Amino acid sequence: MEQKALETIMSRRSIRSYTEQPLEDTIYEQLLRAAMAAPSAHNQQPWEFVIIDDRKLLNRIPEFHPYSKMVPGAAAAILVCGRSKDLPAKELWPQDCAAATQNILLAATALGIGSVWLGVYPKEPMMKGFRDLLGLPGDIVPFSLVSLGYPAETKDPSNRYDPARVHKNGW
Ligand SMILES: Cc1cc2nc3c(=O)[nH]c(=O)nc-3n(C[C@H](O)[C@H](O)[C@H](O)COP(=O)(O)O)c2cc1C
Repeated sequence: MEQKALETIMSRRSIRSYTEQPLEDTIYEQLLRAAMAAPSAHNQQPWEFVIIDDRKLLNRIPEFHPYSKMVPGAAAAILVCGRSKDLPAKELWPQDCAAATQNILLAATALGIGSVWLGVYPKEPMMKGFRDLLGLPGDIVPFSLVSLGYPAETKDPSNRYDPARVHKNGW
């Protein structure tokens, strides 16, 4: 059952424990349609995505990403990458990729799939790890990894709203 937008946003949590159920093939297109619906500077759409569902590849990610121990237990992961060259707003590509990453998390939540955002860019050893593991071309920069799977844990929605962080018409 798909959720309404605000309910999805407020209920999204990082899910790091997954069942063994694989993701249906149709899920990836839904997640990536959501990713590519993100806004981007000058509508430059600098993103590229690598779906990783090969268990041998998933198992190797913790060798170079120290905060990824949930990944070998995930059904799949999506590496969000940026094409950093020949862009009208070159310096803004990480923000574009962040918006795409968040859209994947929200789409996954709406579809009942657990997810976590794992930071990659600008940490060079992690970026090199993905470049070597997946044979990325030189102008493709790994930005984030989203770990995915049907949830084997539940988490309550967080309530982080803090009115003290809100300022109006100046600080
Ligand atoms: C830029 C970024 C990098 C993150 N990197 C990791 C990571 O490497 N490993 C991990 O388990 N969680 C990672 N997270 C998830 C955060 O730990 C998580 O979002 C935060 O603790 C808040 O919890 P919630 O997502 O359940 O609301 C990352 C989140 C962001 C936005």
